[in-house]
Amino acid sequence: MQNPFEQQKPVPGIKKIIAVSSGKGGVGKSTVAANLAAATAKLGKKVGLLDCDIYGPSIPRMFGILNQKPEIAEDHKIIPIKRHDVKIMSIGLLVDDELAVVWRGPMLFKAVDQFLFGVNWGELDYLFVDLPPGTGDVQLSLAQKVPVAGAIAVSTPQDVALSDVKKALDMWARVQVPLLGVVENMSFLTVKDSSGSFVKQQLFPKGSLDHYLEEKGIAKLAELAFYPNLAKACEIGIPLVSSQPDSEEAKSFLELAQKICAL
Ligand SMILES: Nc1ncnc2c1ncn2[C@@H]1O[C@H](COP(=O)(O)OP(=O)(O)O)[C@@H](O)[C@H]1O
Ligand SMILES: [Mg+2]
Repeated sequence: MQNPFEQQKPVPGIKKIIAVSSGKGGVGKSTVAANLAAATAKLGKKVGLLDCDIYGPSIPRMFGILNQKPEIAEDHKIIPIKRHDVKIMSIGLLVDDELAVVWRGPMLFKAVDQFLFGVNWGELDYLFVDLPPGTGDVQLSLAQKVPVAGAIAVSTPQDVALSDVKKALDMWARVQVPLLGVVENMSFLTVKDSSGSFVKQQLFPKGSLDHYLEEKGIAKLAELAFYPNLAKACEIGIPLVSSQPDSEEAKSFLELAQKICAL
């Protein structure tokens, strides 16, 4: 049988490709990918962000470029749109926001190829890839096409999400991509108690994620709170790291970016 990774080749100019994944939708992959990309650019790195969530691209909205159409360069490659020092490419920039993309495996495989090799990325230190939820064709296509330096799994803290982390771990191991660690998102909410002091309140019941990660020797890269401002920034279309760089939420993303750059 042909080795499925035989066709793997690096994208010229791109040093490291980092996948942002999760078993479930709605846990904050795109939010983490967008702010991590903007934070890494703030650290002075050359950064790209590829939205590979073919069925539900949300990066164009998070960067306020919903109606932008990328131009085509002389070499027929697509020129990514640059915002907040991040070069961005997404299926959402090519098809109408309200149209559903109905593609099967082989087309997804082609689209991923086009996004990697048909885009004028130039020189990049990091290309972050925002993936669809789960362990499907897009994840597989990415791992087969290019050497992925590492993957991040985003999860919420409760046990329902833990089984998804286990699946993500299994998938990345099978396609020989190192799991850099887990970002626990929406871990807690900071509220004022009756005496006026700030206390952390659990949003989801805390499960055995920490125990599992420890047992498997997987790093927890961050514990991000539920930040109402972060949710707002996603809608407004400016990553919080750029609009409020001194905020607590921005600092958590800058710390995360520092950790990723140090790996
Ligand atoms: N830490 C957070 N604090 C506040 N809102 C968040 C946080 N993480 C994600 N969200 C919000 O949750 C929703 C889902 O996040 P999203 O990144 O689109 O998830 P996914 O890409 O995993 O489907 C979005 O509306 C986003 O703004
Ligand atoms: Mg998403």
